[in-house]
Amino acid sequence: MTEQMYRVALASRPTGAPGPENFSYEAAEMPPPGDDEVLVRVHYMSLDPYMRGRMDDGASYAAPVPVGGTMEGGAVGQVIASNSPHFKPGDFAFGMFGWATHAVQPANMMRKLDPAQAPITTALGVLGMPGFTGWYGLTALGKPKAGETLVVAAATGPVGSMVGQVAKQAGLRVVGIAGGPDKCKLAVEKFGFDACLDHRAYDTAKALRQDLSTACPDGIDIYFENVGGKVLEAVMPLMNNFGRIPICGMISWYNAGGLGAGASGEGLTAPAIWRTILVKFLSVNGFIISNHFDQYPAFLNQVAPKLASGDIAYLEDIAEGLENAPAAFMSMLTGGNTGKQIVKVI
Ligand SMILES: NC(=O)c1ccc[n+]([C@@H]2O[C@H](COP(=O)([O-])OP(=O)(O)OC[C@H]3O[C@@H](n4cnc5c(N)ncnc54)[C@H](OP(=O)(O)O)[C@@H]3O)[C@@H](O)[C@H]2O)c1
Repeated sequence: MTEQMYRVALASRPTGAPGPENFSYEAAEMPPPGDDEVLVRVHYMSLDPYMRGRMDDGASYAAPVPVGGTMEGGAVGQVIASNSPHFKPGDFAFGMFGWATHAVQPANMMRKLDPAQAPITTALGVLGMPGFTGWYGLTALGKPKAGETLVVAAATGPVGSMVGQVAKQAGLRVVGIAGGPDKCKLAVEKFGFDACLDHRAYDTAKALRQDLSTACPDGIDIYFENVGGKVLEAVMPLMNNFGRIPICGMISWYNAGGLGAGASGEGLTAPAIWRTILVKFLSVNGFIISNHFDQYPAFLNQVAPKLASGDIAYLEDIAEGLENAPAAFMSMLTGGNTGKQIVKVI
């Protein structure tokens, strides 16, 4: 094999926001595929908010990346050698290939892709884990009903834009929250949101709440929780009785170095939030999408045809080069991405 493999390793654990010193871009030895394994050349890799959690050493639903280990992540690539009857050189596939130019994976951990059906990058976003997360969280836990009102932040990202579009098609009033006027314009014009508020334009949750109450004249029935922080504080008092809150993520706190430390400080405390859940009979459900992959074929059956017909729109933000993955990742954590953040590796 004449190709040189490169990878991005976790050089050290961050305290607060990650910096370039926490990553190392290095040459690596290409492993040979064993029995039933496949060697893949990675074309595109995904950058996702959950990867920030993998950099920490705390107890969570998944083990941390060890210091010195390759950063984890989903990617799509082309098979260059195979010891499996299920893959042949030239096949495209999705797998957890990590932040690397090449990877060896067991064939049963990979999913074959047909580039004629959809661009392979869509397996990382709109038709991949994030799109599935939005679809599952909304339909299974949000239980949308026509005429209701939904609010979702990170509205132009792969999760939020799926939530907004599926909710809109189910007949809801859909209000997005996004960072900046350009993203808000995209939420309305590209993804069909009824309205979108720029969270960066408000210093306090109270000010955001005031405009949110105007945008949601009948209150909020579903708050699809992606961000926590100021947005959560703005939303909670506007929830209607029997509202639903699928808790998908809380990105505004991921770099805070301790849950809650990054809240806006306005003081919507745990007792106040707890009381709201009680007195408004709210259903609040945390979920991690990896527990629900039995539903993935149902998602693909519903959403892939809509993508092909143009009834579901998507947006991708593609950074060039594996060596630039850390910078793109750090930027995505604070909203530097517009659409699904991907890295073009080759
Ligand atoms: N539960 C699960 O299994 C699961 C699976 C996938 C994703 N998630 C979660 O879903 C959420 C969205 O993921 P995604 O992949 O679609 O990400 P994304 O939208 O592509 O990127 C993250 C976005 O978060 C927003 N953001 C960052 N800091 C913020 C802050 N302080 N306040 C408000 N918004 C902030 C930014 O958007 P703006 O510039 O528009 O604010 C940024 O672009 C994340 O919380 C993620 O962890 C959960």
